[in-house]
Amino acid sequence: MDRFIIDGGAPLRGTIHISGSKNSALPILFATLLTDEPCVLENVPTKLRDIRLTIRVLEAIGKCVDVSGSRVFVHADKPLKTRAPYDLVKQMRASVLVAGPLLARFGWVRVPIPGGCAIGVRPIDIHIKGFEDLGARRVLEQGDLILDSPMRPGRVHFKFPSVGATENLMMAAAALDGTTVILNAAREPEIEDLGGFLTAMGARVSGAGTSAITIRGSRALRGAKHSVIPDRIETGTFMLAAAATQGSLLLAGTESAHLKALIAKMRAAGATVREGRGHIAVSMKGRPKPASIVTAPHPGFPTDLQAPWMAWMSLAQGASRIREAVFENRFMHAAELARMGARIAVSGETAAVQGVEGLSGAPIMASDLRAGAALLVAALAARGRTAVARVYHIDRGYERIEAKLRAVGARIKRVKT
Ligand code: UD1
Repeated sequence: MDRFIIDGGAPLRGTIHISGSKNSALPILFATLLTDEPCVLENVPTKLRDIRLTIRVLEAIGKCVDVSGSRVFVHADKPLKTRAPYDLVKQMRASVLVAGPLLARFGWVRVPIPGGCAIGVRPIDIHIKGFEDLGARRVLEQGDLILDSPMRPGRVHFKFPSVGATENLMMAAAALDGTTVILNAAREPEIEDLGGFLTAMGARVSGAGTSAITIRGSRALRGAKHSVIPDRIETGTFMLAAAATQGSLLLAGTESAHLKALIAKMRAAGATVREGRGHIAVSMKGRPKPASIVTAPHPGFPTDLQAPWMAWMSLAQGASRIREAVFENRFMHAAELARMGARIAVSGETAAVQGVEGLSGAPIMASDLRAGAALLVAALAARGRTAVARVYHIDRGYERIEAKLRAVGARIKRVKT
């Protein structure tokens, strides 16, 4: 298991090129199951562990996948299976996204139910209810969810705008002849990106990015070419790292319109943020002013940036509050930040953060992907040396992170143990 060794205190300065979005590339890769024709995807963060796993799931189902740099070519030369293997699904919850395309296309699918993870129980009831609303029946067998149809287009109304459920239902609807409407849909930019890919495949999608999505599906979707949007969470993490180290970074190849909530809060806390066409520049002098946040579905403050935000607020000139309203157990990083000198009191879904003058290096451990990112932000800003264990969590979602950070002045190395 690898560790990062970081000698903190160096302001980050320079340019970082942002990779394609992991959370957009995942559903788009699964959407290739909707056709037997070849698909070409560009700007895919192919070095990420989650993308590698997704490719293995597609291969287990029968697709052929060729990767060249950030380009992925998906084709098929044999019939697809309608079953996803447990040993892959248990490693990545997003594998449940095979259900929508395979169920709608073949009328039957068997997917292991993903277990909980460090940040919560994470049920899939909203996905299942959506499939049932379109006529699917479900059976549970040996921990696997078996769904069969006949499915028909119709109307789905989510009780909560789940990102994954919206994606699963959009993909299912794209393969059904007729019109499906999804209400209280998630509005994340990744949903819009998936809508663009489904449209290129021959479905007619309108309203993606709003809470009412209309999909006119087709049984004969075709292969398509698509370029994945930039990763807004990677961008936001580096923006916070720039601010926490009192540096100045240009994030190139990104989209500031996807980060409005973070940008507003960073400005309120005293950072200078300039938005340009395809880039964002961030600089910061001194400690931040305290600014409180509440996480919420898009366009609210993203839960995936709550942990790195906490790392920055640990250094604020006063007290702030963080309410995590999307996941029930997403404060695992607080105890690790406390080992570095942060003063954080967690009570239920709220964390009270009393800013301190400085953090100091310590051996700490990543518990999940974004908690790991927060520890990196803290370590880069801290005095002295930090060793971050369980780097495999960070490798799920940040491509070549140590190379990108080193190029802007961070003293970080990966150590194999
Ligand atoms: C996606 C993102 C993840 C991000 C999250 C919220 C991917 C691969 N992952 O995860 O990085 O943190 O959106 O922005 O895109 N829920 C239910 N029942 C369901 C589905 C969800 O209760 O059937 C709950 C979850 O437990 C959670 C909340 O709804 O508390 C949000 O989950 P959801 O929006 O579905 O997140 P994911 O798609 O899993």
